Amino acid sequence: MPSLFDWRFAADPYPAYAWLREHAPVHRTRVPSGVEAWLVTRYADARQALADPRLSKSPHHHGEQGAHGKGKVGIPGERSANLMTHLLNIDPPDHTRLRRLVSKAFTPRRVAAFAPRVRELADTLIDGFAARGAADLIHEYAFPLPIYAICDMLGVPQQDQEDFRSWAGMMIHQPGSPRGGVGRAVKRMRGYLAELIHRKRAELERRGEGADDLISGLIRASDHGEHLSENEAAAMAFILLFAGFETTVNLIGNGTYALLRHPGQRAVLQRAVADGDTGLLATAVEELLRYDGPVELATWRFATRELTLGGQRVREGDPVLVVLAAADRDPDKFDAPDTLDLTRSDNQHLGYGHGIHYCLGAPLARLEGRTALATLLHRLPDLRLAADPEELRWRGGLIMRGLRTLPVEFTARG
Ligand code: HEM
Repeated sequence: MPSLFDWRFAADPYPAYAWLREHAPVHRTRVPSGVEAWLVTRYADARQALADPRLSKSPHHHGEQGAHGKGKVGIPGERSANLMTHLLNIDPPDHTRLRRLVSKAFTPRRVAAFAPRVRELADTLIDGFAARGAADLIHEYAFPLPIYAICDMLGVPQQDQEDFRSWAGMMIHQPGSPRGGVGRAVKRMRGYLAELIHRKRAELERRGEGADDLISGLIRASDHGEHLSENEAAAMAFILLFAGFETTVNLIGNGTYALLRHPGQRAVLQRAVADGDTGLLATAVEELLRYDGPVELATWRFATRELTLGGQRVREGDPVLVVLAAADRDPDKFDAPDTLDLTRSDNQHLGYGHGIHYCLGAPLARLEGRTALATLLHRLPDLRLAADPEELRWRGGLIMRGLRTLPVEFTARG
């Protein structure tokens, strides 16, 4: 039995997950937050669990009570900041209603129109370090890009975006951020968003029309005469920020690292980028998500009644965690699952989840991932790792997994 979730584990969890898939595919263990949960590691079981209506997203269904229970699942600080009504905590019919409303504002058209802005952000960030010949790609590229992108999209004014950068840094313990500040950062973000929504609603009422940003879109969105309440809009804006930020940091970070560790594959992608082959860029980003995805475990689920999962009896109230990183390396689903193959086309990975909670932001994540990687390879063609891989530190919370730093060097350009 391998040790799970210790300090070595985050650097390479895959051998432990292979063992679990083989010997204990639905396995009960105590996870770092202190809660006992079932880990689901085989692809077929994982896909089934993600779409199983008997597994609720609502923490109200969590069986454990008190200090060991409800406070220890979910996003730190969301309960005290009154942010529980977001998509990842609710079931139909509320989920169906809120998801339909947000989908009216967060449209593929809005994401597509945003492409030039993401390219500009990537270029500006690279301009900031290109002349130096060295950088920490997490701190200077992977981390700021998604936070500025989602702030722009939501309609957070430029002058307030540094606050968001600092709250986001507190959430993932960026160098220079105070420790243990996740709850505090969530609270400040919530206060700011409530005020911003209030301002935008007032503007909309005064002028009869609002700005063309996502928060104004959320306020305007209606379904059979129903609108989002101010509280629901704040929880929605918060989850868009929260779910769309560290995930994308890790996609850019883990993805770049995987490319630097596989020079043959990186050369294939670099040629495709130079030739403008967007097809290969698209399959490459999907493969990077499968191979070393940002979301290691899907978010919490709770059994609403007794059920059998992968041959195991799961009792009512038991928490279930679907291990996306394990499912996406399952040899029963993928040929040579431990091989990075950027041309892999039959690639139904679970990196964005599955079922009704499938990632709402997948089109934006794809746009950011493709643009960030292509711009980097185009602008800094001789990019190389400037650290011993053994010494790189990984941030392994329970849900996400990504590098803390990614030191690189390249020929400086003016
Ligand atoms: C849900 C992955 C980027 C917004 C999810 C889920 C996964 C995921 C696995 C399902 C969780 C579950 O079922 O427990 C990712 C990855 C991303 C990414 C790998 C980047 C590479 C984004 C972005 C946004 C976003 C950029 C928005 C700006 C959401 C939302 C949900 C979600 C709102 C909840 C949907 C629902 O419950 O209906 N994401 N995500 N994500 N994601 Fe993403």
